Amino acid sequence: MKTFEINSALDMHLHLRDGEMLKLVGPHTSNTFVGALIMPNLVPPITTKEALLSYKDRINEACIEDDFDPHVTLFFQNDYSYEFLKDIKDDIIAIKLYPAGITTNSETGVSSMDVEVLRPTLESMSKLGIPLCIHGETNGFVMDREKEFMPIYESIASSFPDLKIIMEHITTKEAVALLDKYDNLHATVTLHHLLITLDDVAGGMLQPHLFCKPIAKRPEDRSALLNAALKAHPKLMFGSDSAPHPKHKKECCGCAAGVFTSPIALQVLTELFEEHDALDNLNAFVSLNAQRVYNLKPIPKTIKLVKKDFVVPAIYERDTEKVVPMYAGETIAWSIEE
Ligand code: NCD
Ligand code: ZN
Repeated sequence: MKTFEINSALDMHLHLRDGEMLKLVGPHTSNTFVGALIMPNLVPPITTKEALLSYKDRINEACIEDDFDPHVTLFFQNDYSYEFLKDIKDDIIAIKLYPAGITTNSETGVSSMDVEVLRPTLESMSKLGIPLCIHGETNGFVMDREKEFMPIYESIASSFPDLKIIMEHITTKEAVALLDKYDNLHATVTLHHLLITLDDVAGGMLQPHLFCKPIAKRPEDRSALLNAALKAHPKLMFGSDSAPHPKHKKECCGCAAGVFTSPIALQVLTELFEEHDALDNLNAFVSLNAQRVYNLKPIPKTIKLVKKDFVVPAIYERDTEKVVPMYAGETIAWSIEE
């Protein structure tokens, strides 16, 4: 049987939530990944050292494997002082900036993307070497939101050449092209955006479990993302953006945005890279690129995948929490070796 090994997999964009949901979803990342960049969009968001450290403790408790490293982030605010950031620098991997109201739990994000408004915090981050992760969407027409954000990425990247900027969960060919224009720009891409377009979400019967922000785009966008991922573009990292929501918040009127992919991410990535004869680049895409961009030295953790059918569970549950994964009930071609 064909096998493939992934070494020290890193998920550089992950939502683990809190409480029962954290206990349900956490182990589905920590059992295969060695580390993950944890997004801070809780309610209320993570904006203090106390909240950050206590969240990290809860993550460590939920993710029982002791070889899993949760790299926590702070929720961007305009008024962080230099002293505060200096004090918290060693506890965080990055700061995540959300335009207000653009996605799940981002209501307290920034209301202006004007560089001058953001300057005080960005200047401190640049001096202290704290990377900036950005959810790059305007509030324009939904298919154009990311494209319209490109000038904002350009203005931040050129105003702060020493600031490491990560364009999160990119979905367009424009974002792929921008990667090569500024040394300080990097990006993450999700599994689902390498696989689906808007057609899969809304072209037939509406698929709530594929609905996410940013929305999946056009075939030419998916091709650009896939080409960059398959060649393990050195500035592109895997970030699942696995974003679990309770089943009743997805299968309802007013569906929450987010696709839950943690339990199938490595298997489906292996299938995708094998299909395109690019398995040689998969370890760079899921680990080495992130190690270089974020200066990480993860401990060795090898996951063996086997080319053997795996039927994705219809649902994952724990007590009263229920969450439906991508490809629920479907058969995928690779499995994690027991
Ligand atoms: C994320 C969530 O649910 O927290 N949702 C999503 O659709 N991706 C937030 C985000 O990353 O935009
Ligand atoms: Zn996200």
